[in-house]
Amino acid sequence: MTPSDVKATLSFSDGSPQMDLPLYKGTIGPDVIDIRKLYAQTGKFTYDPGFLSTASCNSTITYIDGDKGELLYRGYPIEQLAVNCDYLETCYLLLYGELPTPSQKEEFVGRVTHHTMVNEQMQFFLRGFRRDAHPMAVMAGLVGALSAFYHDSPDINNPEHREIAAIRLIAKMPTLVAMAYKYTIGQPYIYPKNDLSYAGNFMRMMFATPCEEYKPNDVLVRAMDRIFTLHADHEQNASTSTVRLCGSSGTNPFAAIAAGVACLWGPAHGGANEAALNMLHDIQKQGGVAKIGEFIKQVKDKNSGVKLMGFGHRVYKNYDPRAKLMRETCHEVLSELGLENDPLFKLAMELEKIALEDEYFVARKLYPNVDFYSGIVQRAIGIPVPLFTAIFALARTVGWIAQLNEMIGDPEYKIGRPRQLFVGATKRDVKPIAQR
Ligand code: SDX
Repeated sequence: MTPSDVKATLSFSDGSPQMDLPLYKGTIGPDVIDIRKLYAQTGKFTYDPGFLSTASCNSTITYIDGDKGELLYRGYPIEQLAVNCDYLETCYLLLYGELPTPSQKEEFVGRVTHHTMVNEQMQFFLRGFRRDAHPMAVMAGLVGALSAFYHDSPDINNPEHREIAAIRLIAKMPTLVAMAYKYTIGQPYIYPKNDLSYAGNFMRMMFATPCEEYKPNDVLVRAMDRIFTLHADHEQNASTSTVRLCGSSGTNPFAAIAAGVACLWGPAHGGANEAALNMLHDIQKQGGVAKIGEFIKQVKDKNSGVKLMGFGHRVYKNYDPRAKLMRETCHEVLSELGLENDPLFKLAMELEKIALEDEYFVARKLYPNVDFYSGIVQRAIGIPVPLFTAIFALARTVGWIAQLNEMIGDPEYKIGRPRQLFVGATKRDVKPIAQR
């Protein structure tokens, strides 16, 4: 962080002592006002529920320019990574800060590949769930359960322990997601196969059965790998902030990632891809394109509580670059499968076109986000709708663990402990129940 030569002066109209606050500059993006000494010097807190104007940390991993609709992983534009790299190269970049050389990639892929199996005991956790349990409920349980298995690396403050936890999490999430899926359909689990690519191995664990060999479709595997890359990290979003706050107590890293899984499940966050596809299904059932106008009217009526799922973003006030890449991937997959006329894809593109011309959305700078098209392409690949967010969690695990390790590796980090504006009852005495 570079101290800015600009100072902020805080003065109060009630005569409280004014205070100079230092500003810091990042390499790109907004400057920050350092308020760490504010309470000690003024007895006042700042107030920012939802953290609309609050930087919770400094980071070198991901940068979003919401106005331009730009997303950089360690400085590289997502558009270039999605085309020139695969997901494991992106994992290496997010974890270590640079793209791997061929030999570094080979070594990293080898390490991940040799950690894809989970302990045989893990399968017994699944038996406790109903077969129709939501996969995110299962994933929160399974990822949390991983914290009970690795006594060889319990010290989060040891960089080697942090690194092996990252490798294990990246390696095992596909295995766990596939197990969660197989459990819901009553099929046997498929073990990882080390001669397949990361995404190819995931597709085989999802769709193969012991009865016949499974040949992954290269176009679908490439699409799956790109979906992983597009979801890998995204600054201090709700689930990443959850992982950081949870991890700041020094807890087990697997437990901290399980907290991220739980947060991502919400429909305002990672659960939006499932909600967006269900929304498209509902419009389709009610009449499809002809019903878009009526649906948009509902969305604009605040009392309806209806939102255009997959639209809008706290940071992007322009088109989410991931949504553009996801729409391209949609085209590729649907053409490969001969589904160019997929009614849901046509409906989504028509809905997007109408929304982007409507003053309500234009005025609020609401554009498609990563979740708007991701459901259509995952459904075309054969992923069941309830599993969409579990796949988001699989892909985001590298971002969560890279951000957690960055925080723990910062000697200045402290346990997160926000304060509050108290608006409840002032001190009063308890009356015995006979007098209440
Ligand atoms: C993800 O943070 C991240 O980076 C998240 C993520 C990641 O990679 O980690 O990008 C992944 O979570 C993407 C977002 C997925 N969520 C959805 O698609 C759900 C639908 N979107 C909204 O719920 C909403 O847009 C949020 C939650 C994404 C953002 O909400 P904000 O920033 O709190 O904005 P807001 O709710 O204050 O909205 C501003 C205005 C409001 O109208 P007014 O009160 O000003 O009249 O826009 C309206 C909102 O009602 N609005 C919408 C809308 N999103 C916002 N109206 C209709 N449909 C929508 N989708």
